Amino acid sequence: MPAGSTEAGPGVVLRAQDVRVYFSKKGFLEKGTVVKAVDGVTLSVRRGEILALVGESGSGKTTLGRAAIGLVRPSSGTIILNDGAEQEVGRARGRQWKALRKRLQMIFQDPFSSIDPNMRVYDALRIPLAAQGVRRREDVRARISDVMKRVGLPEQIINNYVFQLSGGQRQRIGIARVLIFDPVLVVADEPVSMLDASLKGDILHIIQNESRTNNVAFLFITHDMAVARVIADRIAVMYLGQVDEIGAAEATVLDPLHPYTKAMLQASPVIDTSLKDKIKKVNIIGELPQSTAHPSGCKFHPRCPYAMDVCKEQVPALKEVKPEHYVACWLY
Ligand SMILES: Nc1ncnc2c1ncn2[C@@H]1O[C@H](COP(=O)(O)OP(=O)(O)OP(=O)(O)O)[C@@H](O)[C@H]1O
Ligand SMILES: [Mg+2]
Repeated sequence: MPAGSTEAGPGVVLRAQDVRVYFSKKGFLEKGTVVKAVDGVTLSVRRGEILALVGESGSGKTTLGRAAIGLVRPSSGTIILNDGAEQEVGRARGRQWKALRKRLQMIFQDPFSSIDPNMRVYDALRIPLAAQGVRRREDVRARISDVMKRVGLPEQIINNYVFQLSGGQRQRIGIARVLIFDPVLVVADEPVSMLDASLKGDILHIIQNESRTNNVAFLFITHDMAVARVIADRIAVMYLGQVDEIGAAEATVLDPLHPYTKAMLQASPVIDTSLKDKIKKVNIIGELPQSTAHPSGCKFHPRCPYAMDVCKEQVPALKEVKPEHYVACWLY
C-alpha cells in the first residue's frame, strides 16, 4: 500500500474514497443547477493524528467534515471508519448509527451554544453519559472527573451553573461533552477562530494533548495556515471541493508545491516574512469562480499564472511528488 494520503491499513481510522457531495436546486438556485461542495476527495485520517483542512470560504471544508462523521451523505464515493472493524459511515442505521455517532464527534465554533445555561456543570456532562448508558453514580462521577481534568476544568465548579462560568470554561465544557463519548475521531470546525489569543492557545493545547495522550484523531478545519501549522501533523489544502495538496504540516508550509497553496501562504498575514521570501510569489488572477460553475480540468487553472493547455482539459490526480507530500498539479 502506498503511504500518505491515499493509504488504507490498520493505522488509518477514517478513509474517504472519491467522495462527492452535491447540493441541488435549493432556494435561490435555478432548477437543475448543482453546487459541487465536495468533488472527488480521497484522503485518510490516521489514528491519533491532527489533520488540518485548510481552504478559503466555500471550498467545502465543513461539508467534508460533516460527511466524514455521517451528518451528510455523500452523493457518491465512500467513507470507511476503521474502528476495530471496518464500517461505511453513510450507510449505518438504527442502533449501528447510534454507536457510530458516539465514536465520531464534532466541535463547533461556538460549542457552548447548545448547552442550557441554567444547567449545572455536573448535569451538562451527566446527560450525554446517560445517553451512552453510563448511569451508575460512581462511574458517572469518575468519568466526569476524568474529562474535567482533561479539559482543564477545576473540580470545584462541578455544582456551578453554566451561566456562572467564564467564556473559556464554557468552551471547555463544550469540548468535554464531546470527549466524554471517548471518540476515535473529532471534526473540529474552526474551534478557535472566535477566541482571543490566550484562550486560543489553551484550546489548541487540549486538542493536541488529546491526540497525543488519548489517540483521538482530529479533522481540524481552519482557514488560517498559521493555526494549521501550529496544531496539525498534516495539512490538506482544499480548493473548490477538491484537495490540491496534502503533506506533513511543516513541509506544506515551508515547501508548498501547489501554486494555490503558495498564494495562500503569501496572503497569510501571520506567516513570517523570511518564510514568504523563500516561497516563490504567485499572483492569483481574477476572482473565485461561482459555486455553481466550476472550471473544467484543474479548477484552479483560470487563476493560475502557470496554466498550460493540459490544465484546462484534464483533472490532475493527487500525486506523491516528495515522500508523503502529494499535489494535484500538472506542473509535477
Ligand atoms: N445544505 C446546503 N445546501 C446547498 N448548498 C450548500 C449546503 N451546504 C453547503 N453548501 C454550499 O457548498 C459549498 C461549500 O460549503 P462549505 O460550508 O462546506 O464550505 P467551507 O469551506 O466550510 O466554507 P467556510 O470557510 O465559509 O465555512 C458552498 O458553496 C456552500 O454554499
Ligand atoms: Mg465551514
